[in-house]
Amino acid sequence: MERFTIVESAHVVPERVVTNDELATFMDTSDEWIHSRTGIHQRHIVSNESTSDLATTVAEKLLAQANLSANQLDFIIVGTMSPDYLTPSVAQQVQGRIGATNAFAFDLSAACSGFVYTLSMASKLLATKYQRGLVIGAEVLSKLVDWKDRSTAVLFGDGASGVLLQQTVEDTGLLAEALKTYGDQSEFLTAGRQRNSNHFVGDIVAADPYFHMNGREVYNFATRQVPAVLSQALETVQLTANDIDVYVLHQANARIIASIAKRFGQPIDKFPTNVVNYGNTSAASIGILLDELRATGVVHQGQKIALAGFGGGLTAGALIIQL
Ligand code: ACO
Repeated sequence: MERFTIVESAHVVPERVVTNDELATFMDTSDEWIHSRTGIHQRHIVSNESTSDLATTVAEKLLAQANLSANQLDFIIVGTMSPDYLTPSVAQQVQGRIGATNAFAFDLSAACSGFVYTLSMASKLLATKYQRGLVIGAEVLSKLVDWKDRSTAVLFGDGASGVLLQQTVEDTGLLAEALKTYGDQSEFLTAGRQRNSNHFVGDIVAADPYFHMNGREVYNFATRQVPAVLSQALETVQLTANDIDVYVLHQANARIIASIAKRFGQPIDKFPTNVVNYGNTSAASIGILLDELRATGVVHQGQKIALAGFGGGLTAGALIIQL
């Protein structure tokens, strides 16, 4: 077991809400199509905020809630696929803005598995000399969306979330994990291709910010691989699906989540969703849901919860956590 405690959780979403009906005013789509295929009814979209703005707000909330000062942090890791810059990273911007002078900071890029991969890496750091750190998932996916492409534009939203983790001697923390990467299937979901037109290059590579996704392949991947990583993680600690109190899955599509619940023979109410309100916020989604579930008491101390992410890479990952 990698011991840590989740001291606080927090999230933020932009104020501007864009409903399916609003999308249908400038795109050939409908609330009926989007909601029946994905469970999404609306998403929050930035007006002026950047990914680092959202991530900084989450960091400030976490510190205020825990009554800590920024210089008590040892590290900040941000999971994101939509940073403001290639350098500095979002985590480095957050570190500077909150004044976390004793913390090192870096981003982790694993698309919609970002929160799970980041939390896993943080648990390894907390098993060494580091006492306390922030794990944040932050995305402004609206800048990677081609607003003329209805097959991807309706799916994504903006937001950020995070947890403050701390070393503990209690029997809480990461019981088991399974992280998987399928780089040979990377073409099924790409975004943010960088330009290369240097003086020496043969074939100029043009920049392409937008999402390109084979939705059917990603759907099939998720419904196969999420159960696989969850099962693998459970088996390593001789637990069964029944032993998990709440499954906090990446919020891409309510149908994917229902299919995974069915595969595990678990009641759907053990798989809460909020995709209806936020769409797919990639690395932010699991933390947003976790924070809402902690606030309403659905997730609480003493439980075993499972987190699972999947998406670009392609990647998948599951964590079993004792709270
Ligand atoms: N409104 C209306 N019609 C649409 C829209 C839309 N927004 N988008 C596509 N269509 C049409 C297509 O043109 C196509 O029409 P055609 O059959 O005449 O060619 C048809 O709808 C396709 O419909 P379906 O095949 O029924 O679509 P499907 O059931 O596969 O649902 C969806 C599509 C929702 C994208 C699904 O495949 C999915 O959720 N996939 C997983 C995607 C995912 O989770 N991606 C996130 C990964 S996370 C990350 O890492 C960023």
